[in-house]
Amino acid sequence: MRVLGIESSCDETGVAVYDTEQGLLAHQLFSQVKMHAEYGGVVPELASRDHIRRVVPLTRAALKDAGLNMEDLDGIAYTSGPGLIGALMTGAAIGRSLAWGLGIPAVAVHHMEGHLLAPMLEENPPELPFVALLVSGGHTLLIDVPKLGEYTVLGESVDDAAGEAFDKTAKLLGLDYPGGPLLAKLAEQGDPAAYRFPRPMIDRPGCDFSFSGLKTFSRNTWDKSTKTDADKANIARAFEDAVVDTLFIKCRRALEQSGRKTLVVAGGVGANKRLRERLQTLKAEVFFPRLEFCTDNGAMIAYAGALRLAAGACEEPVIQPRPRWPLTELETI
Ligand code: KG4
Ligand code: ZN
Repeated sequence: MRVLGIESSCDETGVAVYDTEQGLLAHQLFSQVKMHAEYGGVVPELASRDHIRRVVPLTRAALKDAGLNMEDLDGIAYTSGPGLIGALMTGAAIGRSLAWGLGIPAVAVHHMEGHLLAPMLEENPPELPFVALLVSGGHTLLIDVPKLGEYTVLGESVDDAAGEAFDKTAKLLGLDYPGGPLLAKLAEQGDPAAYRFPRPMIDRPGCDFSFSGLKTFSRNTWDKSTKTDADKANIARAFEDAVVDTLFIKCRRALEQSGRKTLVVAGGVGANKRLRERLQTLKAEVFFPRLEFCTDNGAMIAYAGALRLAAGACEEPVIQPRPRWPLTELETI
């Protein structure tokens, strides 16, 4: 079964073709980062308008790369939530219409299920059951996954997502949007002994997170500093160390409490080098997507949709994106 996947939930347009027998055939991505950088964050209306411009050319390019025509497709998968409503509407409307026109089924994919399944696209995919750490700009979740589609939340952020905290702290340090990768780069020059930031909520039972305090801690430290470039790098390093350490401690706890032996890490912050290195030291098998599939992409949506369509997913032909959509509401595949 050949499935076209369309991702348009935020500021990246991704289109890919996944074949259930041959694997990933092609993927195309356009990032709107430059457009939003000017405003210091994603402008939803600009995002929607740009998705409209990109989806069709990217679809043509992906099909060309895969050596396929529209008629060779057996299904369409599109991100239906969570995300920005206008941005989601674009992918959903184009995906549904295309499927309608071609007389093939379409499936609404949960963006976080896409992230969670992204490591399955690698050569050595994880085996179920596992615990998943989903760390993106909008979510920080620890999920127990006994079966595909069956998700139990073990812990989540009670305030800012890890990626959001990276972006806000980066902004405070004068870095461009999205600041996560830039802050990580700056942290490389920082002295790890200069400051020690707290590890929020590690003394409380359970696997919940809180990252908004770290952002405030960064601001207070910056305000009290002499505001040199070295101070900036030292704060970036202390912040990154605190986030990485906290995520590590909670992952270790989630594995212990669930008795699982495998950890899957996904989402934009999963591209963080120091986090990847630290999580590899856990007494568990740890799986990550390749770097380009940590952040938003069409491949993960094509893959998640292909699994659901191959399992017989049959949906009403309605365009109904969900800006908020709990992962726990999904049906087992
Ligand atoms: O998954 P994603 O592309 O979009 C959402 O679904 O939110 O994640 C984007 C987030 C941003 O907050 C970005 O700053 C963060 O992932 N990010 C990183 C790194 N690369 C991306 N954070 C820390 N270190 C990185 N290397
Ligand atoms: Zn994402």
